[in-house]
Amino acid sequence: MAIQRTFSIIKPDATKRNLTGAINAKLEEAGLRIIAQKRIHMTREKAEGFYEVHKERPFFDELTEFMSSAPVVIQVLEGEDAVAKNRLVMGSTNPEDAEEGTIRKEYALNVGENSVHGSDSAENAEIEIAYFFKDEEIVG
Ligand code: CMP
Repeated sequence: MAIQRTFSIIKPDATKRNLTGAINAKLEEAGLRIIAQKRIHMTREKAEGFYEVHKERPFFDELTEFMSSAPVVIQVLEGEDAVAKNRLVMGSTNPEDAEEGTIRKEYALNVGENSVHGSDSAENAEIEIAYFFKDEEIVG
């Protein structure tokens, strides 16, 4: 597997609890390089656009309200097999199912306030990166 990029969000529950550094340490220990990073406060509209694929889900309102409730840290991660590697270090969506040592097992509060987002495929990573970052903001 070649060097790949993925998109990551450190969510409001984690930024509020001052966990940005602890989460970044987990990502870096897993061999992922943070090649771009910004702290932003998403508007509701920006969150709704990002999670458009979940529009029909019962948790859509709760999800977009939460993601626009406080600052998040958005990132581009790079590394060998970065999409899968990031999903491994994040752990399962629901922290109750997450494996020991993963970010969600250690830090997530529940399935909604689950501390991190990571792209689920290389194709979606490209779309998600372009939704938040300009090319010149990704410095390697
Ligand atoms: P994320 O990887 O950001 O992608 C979609 C998000 O929807 C997911 O993480 C969860 O935080 C959220 N989500 C999934 N299932 C539920 C649920 N049952 N209730 C609330 N939020 C959910």
